[in-house]
Amino acid sequence: MIPFGTTRDGEETHRFTLQGGPGSRVELSDYGATLVRWFAPDRRGRSEDVVLGFDSVAGYVGHHSYFGATVGRYGNRIAQGRFSLDGKVHVLAANNQPGGIPCHLHGGRSGFDKRLWAADEQTVDGRPAVRFRLRSPEGDEGYPGTLDVDVTYSIGNDGALRIDYEATTDRATPINLTNHSYFNLVGEGHESVLGHIVTIQASRYLPVSAGMIPTGKLAPVDDTPFDFRAPARIGDRIEHRNEQLRLSEGYDHTFVLEPRPTSEPTLAATVYEPISGRLLEVFTTEPGVQFYTGNFLDGTSVGKSGRPYPRRSGFCLETQHFPDSPHQPAFPSTILRPGMMFRSTTIYRLGIR
Ligand code: GLA
Repeated sequence: MIPFGTTRDGEETHRFTLQGGPGSRVELSDYGATLVRWFAPDRRGRSEDVVLGFDSVAGYVGHHSYFGATVGRYGNRIAQGRFSLDGKVHVLAANNQPGGIPCHLHGGRSGFDKRLWAADEQTVDGRPAVRFRLRSPEGDEGYPGTLDVDVTYSIGNDGALRIDYEATTDRATPINLTNHSYFNLVGEGHESVLGHIVTIQASRYLPVSAGMIPTGKLAPVDDTPFDFRAPARIGDRIEHRNEQLRLSEGYDHTFVLEPRPTSEPTLAATVYEPISGRLLEVFTTEPGVQFYTGNFLDGTSVGKSGRPYPRRSGFCLETQHFPDSPHQPAFPSTILRPGMMFRSTTIYRLGIR
């Protein structure tokens, strides 16, 4: 554990290193329970950092791209920034307004990505691990109940980074935890991910309305640029004249994973990058994955290696429940009640082909 800088509130943050197999190393911070760096070898054995981020906490404070962060209480959007639960209306921060339409995004103005988590270095099933813990108090960003959250990152020597989430509450609350890592499998700071080849195990996706809230429809991907059942380059169809791609300026949609529910993480997506030969596989217990192509990056943030992060220089595969579930009774429930244990696991595995 080494210092990672001091926040504006004078909190001291730290950085932790987990050593994986040859050429594989992960760095994490207790600020936002964030994945800061992930070095992985390419097909010639050259190790590079393949996630976007900053080299100290200063970069993350006041920044709103959620690089590598743990996102909560509720990942993605809740329409109008309010919901009712058990007959009571709860008002959340409306911290985002796509198309001028306000909504709540990624837990609010100061979500879990902006908190200092308690951290313990551990070994889990023989794998080096860091366990982060956070207490989100009653009323936090408008959410009901005191929520205790646990996020454990562990790395194997097979290139797999496993993220286990657990949470309990003393009052019913919505919860939707995810990791918001942006990958560039050539190496972070490389200008584009359009050449990456993506497969997603989904025959349906969630179309959104003008405010980027799901319409409630589970639409078939057939004959659309959202069909990634067979491998396709990100760049091949991203500029297609398609109303959904236009609304979000690229891919920024939830894909419906099948078969679900699962208690064991199953394959959700793979991404292959032909220059480096790196292959990312994503396994999860979650029912959805948000595929986001860095449409809102604009080159103004300069990353850890001193290079800017322009539009589409990273992609995210945020494993999660569906956005706006508190307003959509037909979506899988995101309500956690007292006495229940929230559990979720996602594995990102980096290899070569
Ligand atoms: C998610 C959202 C996007 C955007 C990013 C962060 O992927 O769906 O619309 O807010 O997070 O910039």
